Amino acid sequence: MDLTVADASALRRALGRFATGVTIVTCRGMDGTAVGLTVNSFAALSLKPPLVLWSLRAASPSVTPFQQATGFAVNVLAQSQVALSRRFASVVPDRFSVGEWRPGLQDLPVLAGCAAVFECRLVSHQEAGDHVLFIGEVLRMTEHAVAPLVFQGGHYRGLGEPL
Ligand SMILES: Cc1cc2nc3c(=O)[nH]c(=O)nc-3n(C[C@H](O)[C@H](O)[C@H](O)COP(=O)(O)O)c2cc1C
Repeated sequence: MDLTVADASALRRALGRFATGVTIVTCRGMDGTAVGLTVNSFAALSLKPPLVLWSLRAASPSVTPFQQATGFAVNVLAQSQVALSRRFASVVPDRFSVGEWRPGLQDLPVLAGCAAVFECRLVSHQEAGDHVLFIGEVLRMTEHAVAPLVFQGGHYRGLGEPL
């Protein structure tokens, strides 16, 4: 089914009603360069084995490094990290020059102060429409009791009170 331009923006708006967390997904390029971008398509997929997924715009320059890498790290952002989320969704010369980054498994860039980090082995990648779907197996994880960053309706938000 082909969506008209108007339909596409209606679809984006309706999908944006779905509240998500916000992550920065990272990997190492073949030349050792750190690669990363802001992602809210991250989701849990399986507990046994522990699998997660996320999708990347097929036209992104980051596709090749993520396809070639043996793994990726999902850094689940805290509410205090909204500036980093904006930075990793924009064009700046060196996204990694801000934030406290340390080497994780396979030298994956891991960010300090996150609500959670999932260090993954790349299991598969496949084209899906105008995106590439990445599936990874969680090899190591950490979590911290900090307020998570939320994205809904095109806006960054904090978590509301429990119902
Ligand atoms: C809250 C938020 C969530 C995003 N989620 C995704 C996503 O899941 N997949 C994606 O490809 N781009 C996503 N983006 C857009 C990318 O972060 C942005 O296009 C970035 O510049 C892409 O990096 P690149 O220059 O390496 O392609 C998101 C942006 C924001 C602000």
